[in-house]
Amino acid sequence: MNPRDADADRFAGEALAKGEPTGWFEPLYAAATAGAAIVPWDLEVPHALLPEWAQGVDGSGRSALVIGCGYGRDAEFIDSLGFRTTAFDISETAIRDARQRHPDSDVEYVIADLLDPPAEWVGGFDLVLESITVQSMPLSLRTEATEQVAAMVAPGGELLVISGIRAEGAEIDGPPWPLSPSEIDAFATGGLRPKRIERLPLPNDPELLSWRASFTR
Ligand SMILES: C[S@@+](CC[C@H](N)C(=O)[O-])C[C@H]1O[C@@H](n2cnc3c(N)ncnc32)[C@H](O)[C@@H]1O
Repeated sequence: MNPRDADADRFAGEALAKGEPTGWFEPLYAAATAGAAIVPWDLEVPHALLPEWAQGVDGSGRSALVIGCGYGRDAEFIDSLGFRTTAFDISETAIRDARQRHPDSDVEYVIADLLDPPAEWVGGFDLVLESITVQSMPLSLRTEATEQVAAMVAPGGELLVISGIRAEGAEIDGPPWPLSPSEIDAFATGGLRPKRIERLPLPNDPELLSWRASFTR
C-alpha cells in the first residue's frame, strides 16, 4: 500500500464497520487539519487528465459544479477557465480548509451531500465535473450516486467523469472502488448521451489507465 493511503484506509475501515459508507471523510480531513493524518488526494495540481481536456474550453457565461471538491484543486482550475463555479463536499472541514486555502477565490464552496443535494441544483449546471468521488463510495451507493451526478447537468450541458478503471464484475476491497465499463455507461441516464469515453494513461504513471468520459444532455 502507498503510505499516503494509510490514514484514509484506517478511517474508511472504521466507518464502514459502523455501516457509515461516507462517514470517514470528515474524520480524515479533521485529523489532517490537526496534523495527524494525510489526505492522499491533497495535491497542488488539478487532476492530470483535466488540463488537456480543457484546451480551448472557455467557460465564460457558463456555470460549473464540482462534485466532492475536497480542498478545491479541480474547482480552482475550472474557475480559471471562466466558469461561474460552485464546488461542494460532504466534509465541513474540507470546505472550511478550501476557503482558507483560496481566500481570493471566486468559487462558491458549499457543504452538501451528493446523495441529498439541494433541489435547485438539479438540471442547473452547464458543466458538471465528477473526479474520483463516485469511486470513493462503496458499490452499494453507485447507482444512486451516478444518477445524482447526471441529474445536475443542464439541458445542453456536459458531464465530465474522471475515475479509475475496474474490470467488469471484479470484486474489490476499497477504497477506492473504481468504475467498471458498465458503471461508466450508466452516467448516460436522464437524457444524457455519451460524447467521448476514453481510457487514458496518467502522465505521471503511464502504466495506470483512467477513465475520462464526457456526456451531453
Ligand atoms: C477521493 S476524494 C477526491 C477529492 C477531489 N475530487 C480531488 O480529486 O481532489 C473524494 C471527495 O468526495 C467527498 N465526498 C465523498 N462522498 C461525498 C458525498 N456523498 N457528497 C459530497 N462529497 C462527498 C469526500 O469528502 C472527498 O473530498
